Amino acid sequence: MLARAHAFTIDGLRTRHVNVEVDVRPGLPAFAIVGLADTAVREARERIHAAIRNSGYEFPNRRITANLAPGGFPKAGPGLDLALACAVLAASGQIPAVGLEDTALFGELGLDGSITASQGTLAVAGATRRAALDKLILAGTRVHEAQLIPGLHVAVAESLTSAVRVLSGGEPDPTPSRASRLRARGCERPSLLDLSEVSGQHNAVRALVISAAGGHNCLFSGPPGTGKTMLAQRMPSILPPLSRNEALEVAQLHSAAGEPIEALSSVRPFRAPHHSITAAGLIGGAQRGWVGEAALAHRGVLFLDELSEFARPTLEALRQPLEDGRVSIVRARHSAVYPTRFMLLAATNPCPCGHAGDGDRCSCSEAELARHRRRLSGPLLDRLDLLVDLHRETTSEGRLGSLESSEQARRRALDARERQRSRLRAHGIGLNAEMDAGALREHVRLDGRGEAMVSAARRRGLLSARGESRLLRVARTIADLDGVDRVRTRDIGAALALRPYATDTERSVA
Ligand SMILES: Nc1ncnc2c1ncn2[C@@H]1O[C@H](COP(=O)(O)OP(=O)(O)OP(=O)(O)O)[C@@H](O)[C@H]1O
Ligand SMILES: [Mg+2]
Repeated sequence: MLARAHAFTIDGLRTRHVNVEVDVRPGLPAFAIVGLADTAVREARERIHAAIRNSGYEFPNRRITANLAPGGFPKAGPGLDLALACAVLAASGQIPAVGLEDTALFGELGLDGSITASQGTLAVAGATRRAALDKLILAGTRVHEAQLIPGLHVAVAESLTSAVRVLSGGEPDPTPSRASRLRARGCERPSLLDLSEVSGQHNAVRALVISAAGGHNCLFSGPPGTGKTMLAQRMPSILPPLSRNEALEVAQLHSAAGEPIEALSSVRPFRAPHHSITAAGLIGGAQRGWVGEAALAHRGVLFLDELSEFARPTLEALRQPLEDGRVSIVRARHSAVYPTRFMLLAATNPCPCGHAGDGDRCSCSEAELARHRRRLSGPLLDRLDLLVDLHRETTSEGRLGSLESSEQARRRALDARERQRSRLRAHGIGLNAEMDAGALREHVRLDGRGEAMVSAARRRGLLSARGESRLLRVARTIADLDGVDRVRTRDIGAALALRPYATDTERSVA
């Protein structure tokens, strides 16, 4: 007898509908799964066997063939377990096949018949809706992700027995409360840190707000304990909220990586991977659901603290995501493309001992200083718009207090973004950081003094051609924060002050 069930597999962010067909016939006992199944799916045989028996059903002692159709693409992950088990039960006449016709099943089975939520639930819920299926059965821990898709009927089943009950028209299991789900996962939502806690360092705070307003990449450099990490951590609190569509896109990426999604969050992602991360960890690998930090930072911030400690190949790997706003991963039979539109924030000490520029406290040798500079040069630094030096503040500066609160800064950044959006609409972009040469020519017209200032910086070797474009974009954002239409000489001066030195690469081409 033949039975069919609906399931989905996930390849990166792409979800594909899988028809799980199971045929049970007389013959020598065997259980074969065909249709380009990966190791996790092939291992499903053992789990399904145990789960069916331990749930009080009979595992058919006959010849079972499961076909995952269409056969043209690889099926991965343990999320197909539930559909396979239910199709086996229906094909052996233990449950009515009719319940499977318009229901999608998604979950991994434990040997005791319990269902575990699989990563990518949000994407599967969206695909279930698009496939016009009536209902999605899944485990309670991820039910809130599925409920983010409007119009989808979601039923919770914590075990194979519960899933069978729902398929036969019975009641689903209760939806777990938010508190118990959070407890089960050991996670809680961090509250946003406020900019008003930063005392002094006004130059760096200004740079942070400019960066948030125009989408500029920014590097903080300074001795230990000057507040570099502290400042970067406050970036999410001044960024404008995600739109609903952006939030859904972000949630899908995080769901695909197996992170718990409670509700759509309007707070932009902030990812701060440790410097020991590998290139694959940063940009992603072909392993199922292995989304890299660059994609998890999409629409938010990627913060590389202690930049000089990251391995060079790891930083090199960021070039494509930074340039193209996406990363494609191709390995053997699998491929996936993830969006990576993030803002890059980085922090570093000015030298290995951390005290360069701090009177005569620096104990580094010339060779050490040169090595440190080399580690920081290269393609990544070339893509930074703001290079901010932080200094240990003297007592009087320290007493300056905080420059502004996150709320004030966010409002200013939002206003500045609104101005950019209306000005740049015709170019199909929304942020000053995205302006190309044409947009720059049109929207950043300097007067004689401004031109003279830029030429002088170029002559002094402070600016390459590329650095100049970056400087003009930043100046445009500074003017936008002040609510003025024309970029003034003082905006150029302020942008130059936030770019006190050229990167090594710039120097070599300047
Ligand atoms: N400008 C500041 N305002 C208020 N507190 C500060 C400031 N700078 C540093 N601190 C305090 O010092 C602590 C350490 O700062 P932070 O970790 O940001 O320094 P850092 O510049 O990143 O140092 P390192 O180079 O060692 O990483 C902060 O948690 C905070 O309590
Ligand atoms: Mg730090």
